[in-house]
Amino acid sequence: MTNPSALLPVPTHVAIIMDGNGRWAKQRGLPRIEGHRRGVESVRTVLDAARAIGIPVVTLYAFSVENWRRPEDEVGGLMDLLETFLGREKSSLLKNNVRLRAIGRIEALPSRAQAALRDTIAATAHCTAQTLVLALNYGARTEVLDAARDYAAAVVAGTASLDDTASWEGFARHLYTRDLPDPDLVIRTSGETRVSNFLLLQAAYAEFVFTPVLWPDFGRAELEAAVADYRRRERRFGQTGEQVTLSPALAPTII
Ligand code: IPE
Ligand code: IPE
Ligand code: MG
Repeated sequence: MTNPSALLPVPTHVAIIMDGNGRWAKQRGLPRIEGHRRGVESVRTVLDAARAIGIPVVTLYAFSVENWRRPEDEVGGLMDLLETFLGREKSSLLKNNVRLRAIGRIEALPSRAQAALRDTIAATAHCTAQTLVLALNYGARTEVLDAARDYAAAVVAGTASLDDTASWEGFARHLYTRDLPDPDLVIRTSGETRVSNFLLLQAAYAEFVFTPVLWPDFGRAELEAAVADYRRRERRFGQTGEQVTLSPALAPTII
């Protein structure tokens, strides 16, 4: 639904399901890993574009818990690409004042990828201009299991109380995303219109943009178009359109 009277502000948090690398390669008769390599180029372009647009938090779904089911050589290739990306990107993240974060079961990644990740996260911990969140070995259902376990352990240790779950915020403190805002906009490339176990709870009130463009072809213009589409929407958070026209709806404190 469009709201012709006012545009939404630029989203604070954009989360992207980067999909279509394999098909991009297949269309060119190339091995799938070549699509992933080109996908890394899109990551660079989109991060620069997001900074130019003024988006403070960008989350990229890079590897799902289900992606381990792919052929061993593809998984290995993806892990190698991650390590190379982190090594190469560290200096530009620092130069651009970008803090790196990771969400997912990081401890189950190959040790070299983990080391590269921890090194770049530590090196950029002081950066304040933008936050880049990589979802790695991430699954929303796994995140809920980990949060429930963390919460239970905190209750047993006496650092959390059963009353904490009287509000969503009390439980959300145990999610991987505890110190991140919820995504305002979730983009999925490649024409698939599913969520694939990505940020199911945090995207409760996100706006979705699905584009047929394959991830290696997704660049600045495509990000700008998705943000423009988002800004023309009307977010109601349960209220009526009339209420929202009078004063913009605020995200609810979800009970
Ligand atoms: C997304 O591209 C990258 C990852 C899931 C790691 P795909 O590899 O899923 O590409 P398609 O869907 O096979 O085209
Ligand atoms: C989702 O893409 C995961 C990432 C982008 C990392 P997939 O290509 O793995 O999703 P499905 O299997 O098609 O749903
Ligand atoms: Mg895919």
